[in-house]
Amino acid sequence: MKTIIEPFRIKAVEPIRMTTRAERQAILARAHHNLFAIKSRDVLIDLLTDSGTAAMSAEQWAAIMRGDESYAGSPSFERFETAVKALMPFKHVIPTHQGRAAEAILFSLLGGPGKLIPSNTHFDTTRGNIEATGAEARDLLIAEGRDPMLIHPFKGNMDLAALEALLKAESAAIPCVMLTITNNAGGGQPASLENIRAASALARAHGKPFIIDGCRFAENAWFIKTREPGQETRAIPDIVRDIFSCADAMTMSAKKDAFGNIGGWLALNDDDLAEAARARLILTEGFPTYGGLAGRDLDALAQGLSEIVDEDYLRYRIRANEYVVERLDAAGVPVVRPAGGHAVFLDAGRMLAHIPPLAYPGQALACALYEEGGVRGCEIGTVMFGLQPDGTEKPAAMELVRLAMPRRVYTQSHADYLIEAILAVNERKHDISGMRIAWQPKALRHFTARFDPLAPAFPEP
Ligand code: F0G
Repeated sequence: MKTIIEPFRIKAVEPIRMTTRAERQAILARAHHNLFAIKSRDVLIDLLTDSGTAAMSAEQWAAIMRGDESYAGSPSFERFETAVKALMPFKHVIPTHQGRAAEAILFSLLGGPGKLIPSNTHFDTTRGNIEATGAEARDLLIAEGRDPMLIHPFKGNMDLAALEALLKAESAAIPCVMLTITNNAGGGQPASLENIRAASALARAHGKPFIIDGCRFAENAWFIKTREPGQETRAIPDIVRDIFSCADAMTMSAKKDAFGNIGGWLALNDDDLAEAARARLILTEGFPTYGGLAGRDLDALAQGLSEIVDEDYLRYRIRANEYVVERLDAAGVPVVRPAGGHAVFLDAGRMLAHIPPLAYPGQALACALYEEGGVRGCEIGTVMFGLQPDGTEKPAAMELVRLAMPRRVYTQSHADYLIEAILAVNERKHDISGMRIAWQPKALRHFTARFDPLAPAFPEP
């Protein structure tokens, strides 16, 4: 059969409240054109994030009932730890309430003023946690990964020559080498097993621990299986174990590739580092057999980990984004290619080329999509990255809108509706005006800034 179906039936549903264009215009105005200020009941298709938004399976809900809430030594922790170690063979597994808590603990131990931590691309919270200790976060992505339209199978690869040069030049400042799979900030693009092995070998040759941010490890493993020569006949769990056997530690947001609505972990091999991490965990998260989680959460994650490596799920998951990207690309809508693992990225800078970066084309496009179809995406451009610490502004490297796909939540007809809404906006793109910021906070402005359109988004004829 050629049709790739959603490999699940639906047992519980959440109604989507339909809204009219007029209602959405009023909602947008009340929210000062910031989609973070819109209530989720006013959204038809919510693609703000794939984090914590997955539909849990019947078996996960059953596992929730099995959860044991003992403060210490809960069997839920044992099931969680066993499930993690089955895929990621680390000696110590330390649960946290979400990914950034694992990052905060790790960098409180490895960071500090004068330190320098390279990665293919650090995600915002990773960068934030590194910089909060006074250290520098440096991105060493291959050049192909920075060109939205260029087709390349592994646009998340580390630039190995740049990594080697940095390890030689700045060895004393570098406490570890990181790699994010997939590269969320760079379009959900994967790193190849070959690149992961080589980056790990370089780090280890210089005596540095190699640490993987593994949030979307299963999607990355699927790309390895389907795109890397010699990997096509391997089982996903085998590829996953290979990836993590290259690493000395990992951070994880279980809100992504563990089908969790909450959760994360830090896993490592070094006994001393693990002891220091647990001491920190007790201060900030909780006792080492629950971290920041309830026993029931640990059980839901243990079950989720067994489901995320299912090939039928991964085939459907990756195909769903390809389906959207192929149709948009064929209709001439500029999109990041190839499709990412967890999201479709629209290139707002090219689509709305008449809007300069400091009039925020990504924000204008995200609002136009909401007005057109009630779809909520997220600007990843000058609104998110343009504000400098000294209060000045400079254009971001790319003006993107991320449409992140919650796991197992939407169906193909939702995808068709999404495509229709984007094509309708594309038809009227010359009518879309830029935005000015009416108010903004000093940092992380994308969450709370208020915008005024420079002209009505869709003026009446
Ligand atoms: N690393 C990556 C690659 C991420 O994408 C995220 C979260 C984190 C770390 C932090 O994990 O949210 O559990 O604390 N990304 C979400 C997103 C927020 O929408 O992309 P967390």
